[in-house]
Amino acid sequence: MNQNVTIIKPKVLIKILEDYFPDQNISGTFMMPPSYIGSLTLLESAMLLAFVKLIRPKKVFEFGTFMGHTSVFFAKNIAEDAKVHTLDVPQNYAVNDGSKTKASEVDSLLRDQSVTLKAKCITNENKEVKRKINPILCNSLEFETDKLQNSVDLVFIDGGHETHIISSDTIKATEMITEKGVIVWHDYKSDVFTDVTEYVDKFSQSHKVFHIAHTNIAFMWKSQEELLLKTHRSFS
Ligand SMILES: C[S@@+](CC[C@H](N)C(=O)[O-])C[C@H]1O[C@@H](n2cnc3c(N)ncnc32)[C@H](O)[C@@H]1O
Repeated sequence: MNQNVTIIKPKVLIKILEDYFPDQNISGTFMMPPSYIGSLTLLESAMLLAFVKLIRPKKVFEFGTFMGHTSVFFAKNIAEDAKVHTLDVPQNYAVNDGSKTKASEVDSLLRDQSVTLKAKCITNENKEVKRKINPILCNSLEFETDKLQNSVDLVFIDGGHETHIISSDTIKATEMITEKGVIVWHDYKSDVFTDVTEYVDKFSQSHKVFHIAHTNIAFMWKSQEELLLKTHRSFS
């Protein structure tokens, strides 16, 4: 077990949300979780909704669009003038898969499917939702953050799961994130994508990282560390 990563109950985020909006029934727009490998569960979507409600991001950045399910989820829950930038490999992509592990095989399959199915959840949407989504077709290893530096309030890292990609995506996330923003990794503690856990655990030696129990979400939210720890202790 990694001693640096603090494992919190989902209700830690929910309690913070309830305290922030004491006079509201908190709601959002959810979609049926897809059957594709690596997709978000309903609980994970609820946790992302909590971040969206608390931060009210003007810009969201997603590494790994795939079918666009989570891009659409973000678009439906952010403000009218906010934007989701979502990145995935282009046609004829060339990504170094690294070693031939089970994870890199699954990643190759996901990249092929992503190119073939062309973010179909975004295609299925109406123009109000599409207007909020900016798809970027680019190998994340070649993506340059200069136009988005210090301007993104929520970065969702869910692209390639091999160490060199997670590491590069995380460094780029730290360049883009605002002071109040949150960086979220998906597939932490996944049985298949073990590089994510290894990388995030190592990252947690120099940065405060939280993991939400019963999910594959880990996150770093510098501006709220004290509140998170205080609320966590109140439930322990
Ligand atoms: C697990 S899927 C993303 C799922 C999506 N975020 C969701 O919640 O619906 C991972 C995606 O990352 C993409 N990907 C993998 N390596 C990449 C890279 N180097 N650059 C950009 N995208 C990459 C794959 O093509 C795949 O579509």
